[in-house]
Amino acid sequence: MMSRVLIIGATSAIAQEVAKIYAASGSKLFLIARNSRKLEQVAQDLSVRGADSVEMLPLDLADIERHEEIVATTDKFLGGIDIALIAHGTLPDQEACVTSVNDTLRELQINLLSTISLLTLLANYFEKQGSGCIAVISSVAGERGRQSNYVYGAAKGGLSIFLQGLRNRLCKAGVCVLTIKPGFVITPMTADFKKGFLWAQPRQVGEAIVTAIQKRKNVVYVPWFWRWIMLIIRNIPENIFKRMSL
Ligand SMILES: NC(=O)c1ccc[n+]([C@@H]2O[C@H](COP(=O)([O-])OP(=O)(O)OC[C@H]3O[C@@H](n4cnc5c(N)ncnc54)[C@H](OP(=O)(O)O)[C@@H]3O)[C@@H](O)[C@H]2O)c1
Repeated sequence: MMSRVLIIGATSAIAQEVAKIYAASGSKLFLIARNSRKLEQVAQDLSVRGADSVEMLPLDLADIERHEEIVATTDKFLGGIDIALIAHGTLPDQEACVTSVNDTLRELQINLLSTISLLTLLANYFEKQGSGCIAVISSVAGERGRQSNYVYGAAKGGLSIFLQGLRNRLCKAGVCVLTIKPGFVITPMTADFKKGFLWAQPRQVGEAIVTAIQKRKNVVYVPWFWRWIMLIIRNIPENIFKRMSL
């Protein structure tokens, strides 16, 4: 079905797979990312794949002052937004964060605060519009703090709670808020990790996201088995969990 779609962090490997699916259905796309050369390549590819039209705005999302411009420019181009996907993010160097307040705050700024800023503006836009879906990529890492990635986990955990509150608020306006919780995905973000059987391809994650948006789901784990892995992890007693090397 043709939709008017805003994708923030459009050069992300996962976001590109979502965009390809909407492009193939003849959707109108508005793309935001900071690397203008990569963004142009992505936009060209999506046009070839059948998008009705593709427009883009290169922007560093850490520049919160410009977030209002995103909503206004998107609305001007799309004439209403059916779906907004927020996909940008960074994987912090946890060891560097342990010794640097600046590194820790910078990571929280991009992975949590910039997204909250966008969500505050988008929520008001969608509430007024009275329809649509806001889909945001959080992570299973936000469900329990681990020594190896608790800065990232704190950002994603805070984000998931914010989304839960937003869903409760926007439900009354007929707006769907989808929290996406991927496990391990093979993308540039995880290029340095050793891969194993739990790892998913971005295409698989992209398809699951589009299906969840279509079905107006609240929370989706991708792949699905992470729901059960996280159920176990969340239920390990803290006295045992704190001694584990995770
Ligand atoms: N890969 C995983 O295993 C995994 C698991 C759970 C959740 N996630 C989440 O999934 C989302 C997408 O990540 P991915 O796996 O697709 O990785 P990715 O391909 O590395 O995408 C991350 C994107 O975020 C963009 N970005 C980072 N900082 C930005 C900034 N200040 N302004 C604008 N754009 C910025 C990057 O842009 P540049 O290209 O310009 O750097 C890149 O396009 C992220 O929110 C991530 O936390 C990933």
